[in-house]
Amino acid sequence: MRQFRERFPIFEHTTYLNSCSMGALADEVRASMIGYLDDLERDGSLWATWVSRQDEVRRRLAQVFRTDPTQVAVTASASAAVSSIASAVLTDPRRPRVITTELEFPTVGQIWHARERQGAEVVHIPSTSNLGIDMKALDAAVDDRTAIVSVTHVCYRNGAMTDLAPVIELAHSRGVPVLVDAYQSVGAVPIDFPALGADFLVGGVLKYMLGLPGVGFALASPATVQYVPSITGWFAARDIFAMDIHAYDPAVDARRFEGGTPVVPCLYPAAAGLGLLLEVGLDRAWEHSRRLHEQLRQTVLDIGGTVVTPAEHHGPMLAVEATDDHALVAALEGDRVITSCRDGNLRISPHFYNNADDIEIVGKALQRHRHLLR
Ligand SMILES: Cc1ncc(COP(=O)(O)O)c(C=O)c1O
Repeated sequence: MRQFRERFPIFEHTTYLNSCSMGALADEVRASMIGYLDDLERDGSLWATWVSRQDEVRRRLAQVFRTDPTQVAVTASASAAVSSIASAVLTDPRRPRVITTELEFPTVGQIWHARERQGAEVVHIPSTSNLGIDMKALDAAVDDRTAIVSVTHVCYRNGAMTDLAPVIELAHSRGVPVLVDAYQSVGAVPIDFPALGADFLVGGVLKYMLGLPGVGFALASPATVQYVPSITGWFAARDIFAMDIHAYDPAVDARRFEGGTPVVPCLYPAAAGLGLLLEVGLDRAWEHSRRLHEQLRQTVLDIGGTVVTPAEHHGPMLAVEATDDHALVAALEGDRVITSCRDGNLRISPHFYNNADDIEIVGKALQRHRHLLR
């Protein structure tokens, strides 16, 4: 992985372990942003180029998720993707129920609860002691009034990874579609979308996918063709350039979950980041970061720290209990070790560009600030 690490200049001066918040910037991602300005300066208006850039991002996302580009919608954020999906699945008054969890990122909970004004009923399934989904409670909750089951893949607060297969199986056995928020795993954990069998999967490119803010996405399986969003825009039309103001004619593939003009400057770095990720390979990246995750867990335990993330099912991020999480992040930053925190936990998130030395460095820094660990 050394040859890839060299393409991230931040490692020349900083121990960067915060990919769960924002990925490190690669040389080619930086250059692609400048490339956007070069294109604009040289050619002026670039509508056709922009559509083709969006399609390039779509194709690369399809490659990452081992699916077809027709199952990929490129959006401005994960929130935009979830909102569009929500507007499509909550249309039948006989099915007002949304079954979700206690592990969601705020945007997902908020989008579902925003629908209560139109009659939605939102149910949160409790977590088990090892931060999984309480399957008994899920079994009791999913009924014939349920419109969707909405679950997170990896929890942004504690790093626990949900076993999605039984959740999808249970929902599908009752004819209920499943939305997976995989923002905390995409780009780090290999996901085969067709094999997973979820109906929808949302995420964005700015974390483990090495892009910048401004590009999210939704994957929509062919089974979702009956769901048509009312949160929409002209880039979701069957023919973007038909320019028809007298009819709504959405694309029949996943593109119908798109909206207006994409955040064009960010499509360039999204394509570059995804290109680099595909060059590394998802399987190889995950194998590497899983090893670092285990080294990190042992390092924290050796210091006498408390790891929150379950050992048996986890994503790329390791959460550690802190007495004052913000003070700990600031203290580490003073040592040029970049992490983040949520909910009282320190979050340390290695990716393929990190190495065993980074883990040793963060371990030594944690030892120095031991008083801030619980
Ligand atoms: C798990 C998860 N879901 C959703 C989001 C929100 O994504 P966006 O800001 O693109 O809507 C985030 C952002 O960090 C996240 O970590």
